[in-house]
Amino acid sequence: MYTYGDIAFRVIEKYDLEILRELHNEQSTWENLLNIDFIDEPDQENWWKNLHRKKNDKRFVICLEADQYKIIGRLRIQNINLQHNNCEVGLDIIPEYRSKGYGYKSYKMLLNFLFNHYNMNMVYLKVADFNPNAKKLYEKIGFKETGKFPDFFYRNGRHWDYILMSINKTQYLEKCNE
Ligand SMILES: CC(C)(COP(=O)(O)OP(=O)(O)OC[C@H]1O[C@@H](n2cnc3c(N)ncnc32)[C@H](O)[C@@H]1OP(=O)(O)O)[C@@H](O)C(=O)NCCC(=O)NCCS
Repeated sequence: MYTYGDIAFRVIEKYDLEILRELHNEQSTWENLLNIDFIDEPDQENWWKNLHRKKNDKRFVICLEADQYKIIGRLRIQNINLQHNNCEVGLDIIPEYRSKGYGYKSYKMLLNFLFNHYNMNMVYLKVADFNPNAKKLYEKIGFKETGKFPDFFYRNGRHWDYILMSINKTQYLEKCNE
């Protein structure tokens, strides 16, 4: 478990799967994500059992210390490249905990872990053009728009740009000192 203020993240245990499945299948989550394959219990259990094999893809739950470490979201560190020290990240907060600052705190926790403990030099993420709330959050954290995949993302009857945003360790440390 990695603790940061009143939140933490830890590995996914079998007893977490139901709440994570609900979050994944819930419309206000999936409509913002590239992968809209709904998951059922057997599929998810297979996915979970295979997680440990994936050395460059790690998944965690985000917990709230003040509430007996109740799960408030999920977090992913993907495409981990230990030769060039970069990775892709993403996270989703459970609907009832949204707009309370937990997304912001979770990203602060994640970047602190990646830059100060996991020796990453650059962290990137992708966000759909139709998700301005998430984009605002990433800008607030210090991510900068660094490119896009035009017309990459199909949702609501049309294609949207998939925006690439990144932050490197120098930018992160500058942001911490603001
Ligand atoms: C996007 C998401 C992770 C944000 O987490 P959150 O806990 O709701 O966000 P926070 O409360 O920490 O808000 C942080 C900032 O994000 C922006 N933001 C978040 N929700 C917003 C909303 N409903 N309206 C406007 N701005 C919003 C604001 O800039 C906010 O800063 P402010 O409060 O100073 O204005 C969360 O809403 C979520 O999981 N959404 C569904 C799935 C999703 O979109 N995942 C990301 C895919 S790229």
